[in-house]
Amino acid sequence: MFSLYKKRPALAEVTILFGTHSGHSKYVARQLAKLLDLKGVSHRVLNMKRFRAADLVQERCVLMVVSTHGDGEPPAGAMRFVTELSKVPELSGLQYSVCALGDSYYENFCETGRYIDAVMMRLGARALVPRVDCDEEFEMPAARWIKEVAGVLSGSVAEEVSLVSQTRRYKARLTRQFRLNQPDSSKEVFHLEFESDLFPYLPGDSVGFIPSGFPNGRDQQGRTPRYYSIASSPLEVTNGFHLTVKTHEKGLCSPCLNHLLRPGDELEFIHLPSESFRLGHDHPAIILVAAGVGIAPFRAFIRHNAAQLNPVKIWLLYGDRNIETDYLYRDEWKALLEKGSIHRMDVAFSRNDPPQYVQDLLRINRKDVAQWVQSGTAVYVCGSKPMGAAVRGFFDDLSQNLALGDKGVHDRAELAYYEELF
Ligand SMILES: Cc1cc2nc3c(=O)[nH]c(=O)nc-3n(C[C@H](O)[C@H](O)[C@H](O)COP(=O)(O)OP(=O)(O)OC[C@H]3O[C@@H](n4cnc5c(N)ncnc54)[C@H](O)[C@@H]3O)c2cc1C
Ligand SMILES: Cc1cc2nc3c(=O)[nH]c(=O)nc-3n(C[C@H](O)[C@H](O)[C@H](O)COP(=O)(O)O)c2cc1C
Repeated sequence: MFSLYKKRPALAEVTILFGTHSGHSKYVARQLAKLLDLKGVSHRVLNMKRFRAADLVQERCVLMVVSTHGDGEPPAGAMRFVTELSKVPELSGLQYSVCALGDSYYENFCETGRYIDAVMMRLGARALVPRVDCDEEFEMPAARWIKEVAGVLSGSVAEEVSLVSQTRRYKARLTRQFRLNQPDSSKEVFHLEFESDLFPYLPGDSVGFIPSGFPNGRDQQGRTPRYYSIASSPLEVTNGFHLTVKTHEKGLCSPCLNHLLRPGDELEFIHLPSESFRLGHDHPAIILVAAGVGIAPFRAFIRHNAAQLNPVKIWLLYGDRNIETDYLYRDEWKALLEKGSIHRMDVAFSRNDPPQYVQDLLRINRKDVAQWVQSGTAVYVCGSKPMGAAVRGFFDDLSQNLALGDKGVHDRAELAYYEELF
């Protein structure tokens, strides 16, 4: 093996691309870069969101680390790269390799990495080393991939690489819990407050619980975490976090959180950073579109923003089932509106007369939305996938029409548009 590697001429100019949701792929990319540094292989590391697939034709060697999210989709930041990749005419001069991160619990295991690999092959690019598919415990296979890639590129056997586990477990203790909607509602949503170990979260992030780890839990098999968006700001709640949890009757996790857990009970959780669903301050204003428990991260955004020196202007559009029974955090919004922490709020209820959804609110207020968007407002959407699709449709249509008016926005891809759908 050693002599085989030695015969290869060392390649220069390597581009390492990563596509990530929660930071694992970025970590792997950086560890690869460190080893290439040691080996004297010149390289650069780039987030896929800043790289156009068309520019691949100028590259000699591209190494890609990418995860899969949603139902087999690329992380939000990698979406454009993946979509544009299939439009590249050919890449016969290019060498590449893919490290795919995923979780075999999901049906579309490592789908993004597999797809990229297949397209690269079809375009005539040559695999430097075969793709590796990494399961939830990605550290060992990813380390082997790094070692192999570095060995081939440097023409020498690379030293052992060891990656540190990125899924640290923390402890949380329930301190308070109350039902948010009315007992006669057709669903059940709870507000939960936890004290916890310190962990570096930002609004937009989630926590994950492994169902089999619940105290007093049923005999459960669930090994895959269920995630909940953090509904509090670390600037306000410094020793823990809040959640907004809807009960899924036959679910493994939500009934335990809402029914079995008692104040004082402890449980373990993991932190899911959300690199592409963060409250940025490079926009003068933000529009938040939420349905149901999709309101949770926006409670964190709004409260976090209110605690800043230079808060951005917020327009909240919120939809739920019934105004009498399901208006989550109603009094809080009222107080935040009075304080000016929310500039404007519109609500829609699907089981009142007339039935309305958030996308109806957007359509009704289309002129105002257009004005906000044209002045550089970022749009955040959180809730169910069907709701997300409807809202996306609205913004696709709006931005196409704005393009006709030549006001600087030509399609939704040019909007600062962020979504968290579940
Ligand atoms: C990033 C992210 C953030 C999220 N944020 C939030 C949030 O803030 N608040 C929130 O409430 N949710 C949130 N979710 C959704 C949440 O993670 C869970 O999907 C939800 O709580 C269901 O988990 P569960 O374990 O209770 O149900 P699961 O065990 O996962 O079951 C899923 C569904 O299948 C049904 N089911 C399961 N077993 C059976 C059976 N034997 N027969 C019939 N039906 C069955 C359940 O009723 C349920 O509807 C988020 C998800 C993600 C990915
Ligand atoms: C909400 C959610 C959805 C996911 N969906 C998939 C999926 O469809 N297929 C898959 O292989 N992995 C899936 N995963 C697993 C991630 O790809 C895996 O945790 C990976 O290590 C994350 O890497 P990243 O931090 O670079 O995004 C999912 C993870 C989460 C939290």
